[in-house]
Amino acid sequence: MSDDLLKNKIDLNKLPKHIATIMDGNGRWAKSQGHMRVFGHKSGVKSVREITEGCAELGVEYLTLYAFSTENWARPKFEVNALMTLLVDTIGKEMKTLQDNNIKLNAIGNLEKLPKKTYNALIKGIDDTKNNGRMTLTLALNYSSRWELTQTMQKIAEKVKIGEIEPKDINADIIQNHLATHNIPDPELMIRTSGELRISNYLLWQLAYAELYFTDVLWPDFRKPDLYTAILNFQNRERRYGKTSEQVSEKT
Ligand code: IPE
Ligand code: IPE
Ligand code: MG
Repeated sequence: MSDDLLKNKIDLNKLPKHIATIMDGNGRWAKSQGHMRVFGHKSGVKSVREITEGCAELGVEYLTLYAFSTENWARPKFEVNALMTLLVDTIGKEMKTLQDNNIKLNAIGNLEKLPKKTYNALIKGIDDTKNNGRMTLTLALNYSSRWELTQTMQKIAEKVKIGEIEPKDINADIIQNHLATHNIPDPELMIRTSGELRISNYLLWQLAYAELYFTDVLWPDFRKPDLYTAILNFQNRERRYGKTSEQVSEKT
């Protein structure tokens, strides 16, 4: 099916407000073509651009991309360095795409522990796009959910210590408000490429009621039609939030 045919099938009134993606499979994509893993990461940038544009064009308000996990430091030094350099280059090169599409850049993760150059490029990108309002693109960078939840607990514990919060008053809202994503609604759709059926320490709290979509397509091959297919799949699901199917269909 052509891009437009697929795109036109999407119900714009039922778009996920927030899509989160685990961009996986760059290494396998490169190796399958006889290249080094890093070539896969470089090739994955085109998918980032396509999916960012695709989401903005449709009217998705938030897109979050898992770019580097706290566990990814365990990879060979050469690959880690290449990824950090690629991030600096990409943020610089993609600034035009972000400005042209009125997209605000945001980041979650242990950012201060990133190499200085990567950190500076990121902060500059965030600052340069801070007035854009069509979509928020969040990079999860040096991110893991357990890191985030630990931070969150520390922040809340500090407030308890100084008497600002009573332990008995801690509730889901207070926790949500102390997450790195406190200003972002929970993802409604989570897409993972490359056929791996796991969450890999990504947005564990926020994905509580997300629809999960797994595809065998490797990230460097993931293009707008793949995004549309994932959204169409999402739109065909019944989100019950604990209720019965009858209760949900009565309302609509
Ligand atoms: C995802 O692709 C990119 C990052 C984790 C940075 P991978 O590098 O994990 O690719 P595979 O899973 O090894 O194929
Ligand atoms: C998850 O991919 C992290 C990112 C996409 C940045 P990984 O390739 O690191 O995940 P695992 O280790 O296979 O679960
Ligand atoms: Mg992987």
